[in-house]
Amino acid sequence: MNKQWWKESVVYQVYPRSFNDSNGDGIGDINGITEKLDYLKNLGIDVIWLSPVYKSPNDDNGYDISDYKHIMDEFGTMADWEELLTEIHSRDMKLIMDLVVNHSSDEHAWFLESRKSKDNPYRDYYIWRPGKDGREPNNWEATFSGSAWKYDEATDEYFLHLFSKKQPDLNWESEKLRNEVYDMMKWWLDKGIDGFRMDVINFISKEEGLPDAPNPEGKKYVSGGQYFVNGPKIHDYLQEMHQEVLSKYDILTVGEMPGASVEDAKLYTDPSRAEVNMVFTFEHMDLDSGPGGKWNLKPLQLRDLKENITKWQTGLHGVGWNSLYMNNHDQPRMVSRFGDDKTYRVESAKMLGTFLHMLQGTPYVYQGEEIGMTNIRFDSIDDYRDIEILNMYKEKVVEGNEPHDKVMESIYVKGRDNARTPMQWDASENAGFTTGTPWIQVNPNYPEINAEQAVNDENSIYHYYRKLIQLRKENPIIVYGEYTLLDEENEKVYSYLRTYNNQKLLVVTNFSAEELEYVIPAEFTGGELLIGNYSDVKGKVEKKIQLRPYEAVVYIG
Ligand code: NOJ
Repeated sequence: MNKQWWKESVVYQVYPRSFNDSNGDGIGDINGITEKLDYLKNLGIDVIWLSPVYKSPNDDNGYDISDYKHIMDEFGTMADWEELLTEIHSRDMKLIMDLVVNHSSDEHAWFLESRKSKDNPYRDYYIWRPGKDGREPNNWEATFSGSAWKYDEATDEYFLHLFSKKQPDLNWESEKLRNEVYDMMKWWLDKGIDGFRMDVINFISKEEGLPDAPNPEGKKYVSGGQYFVNGPKIHDYLQEMHQEVLSKYDILTVGEMPGASVEDAKLYTDPSRAEVNMVFTFEHMDLDSGPGGKWNLKPLQLRDLKENITKWQTGLHGVGWNSLYMNNHDQPRMVSRFGDDKTYRVESAKMLGTFLHMLQGTPYVYQGEEIGMTNIRFDSIDDYRDIEILNMYKEKVVEGNEPHDKVMESIYVKGRDNARTPMQWDASENAGFTTGTPWIQVNPNYPEINAEQAVNDENSIYHYYRKLIQLRKENPIIVYGEYTLLDEENEKVYSYLRTYNNQKLLVVTNFSAEELEYVIPAEFTGGELLIGNYSDVKGKVEKKIQLRPYEAVVYIG
């Protein structure tokens, strides 16, 4: 297998708004990140992924960009950013930036021009259509509720926005637009960044004619995903982007790709096709959703997780490359979702870290994951900040007839603000995140769960993650070994094997709070413990092990 630095790296995602506030305005900023670089270096992080820091009216916390070449005022200046990059590089770490080019902000200069007249030179930078039979051009629904079209009086036409009304979709059919994007990417790469995380990049190609989606239930708006997810020209665009930009640099590229199957991912990540290094799949993030989508809660079945992860592990082996994640700024906290964030918070957070870091692929750690931060429950909807949550609540409760309690419950389980409460640095007021009033409330559990405590406690999740990351550096089998699922039917224990040259790695993770007996596969007798989340396990593996709640053990032999 082809060795690459980005396969051997561990990436840490910073959501700047919630990471560290250096100037007391209640909002995290770039200098705040610079202050914490030693913390990340000590964790063993190789690459930092910065969620958007560009100029933005913040309708969607920076994922609505009004100037791709400026830093958001609240976050600081370009000089601050340059210093951040220098400080990252001087610690031998790398920086990847978020590339949000499926859409811009409606306050971007291109859009302000585009909406002026039908013959404006920027008109076709966006997707404009006349209405149809007195309503929107088609029946597509926006991700953040309502129609995906907004009427604009100036020219009596609608523009497409797959996300909020303030996030008009860019028109990738326009060669001029594509070249502007490529120039902008080169501009950042020439500043010395080490790659891009590409926001919903598999949405940029839309089916010609933008047809209505099938609507058997006669709903007002429906998902038009089949007409823009992995659309007809997506591979042409990515190959063009690769040829024009990516191929000229030694960088990490990861495409965020909701709705990409493993078959799609093979096409996106096979190096011979020259598109991107890896994708973020959403399939494992959807296993606890019912047919009604994200807010339709359904308990996770471990066997579904096994089936899904195994499909990706075996599907991409020797073809492309996996990214490994169980949470980010759009998902609930992983210990709350897949573990037990109360009695066994520490054990289950370590178990989940073990499970993920021992798989084949590049692991992504989301800020706070390394200290086991948990979901939040705000009593009032007014304390939430996320546009997705607020629009959904309005549609379902204020304008619809769903009960408040039921909808709040779904927000507690799935809402994006679970991941966006401020990073918990220490036990001082506001968790040491800010001296001002935080833009979103701090999770009240910060006196117990915080980075200072974790750094000082050698049995903490933080130190366990350090060890996981260190082991990856010392054992190529963790990066490159082939994956085989074991004990498929087991509903509580997820175990798998990795093999590389003449070596084997056995990973056993108890996803339950029960004590269970696990029989070690015969070929493993004699394997040595590499890491485990209960400190009393040592030495060689026996024929059987008694697994305790959320226990994880890894043997190498
Ligand atoms: C995916 C981003 O991760 C999410 O935060 C954002 O709301 C949408 N894309 C739209 O940019």
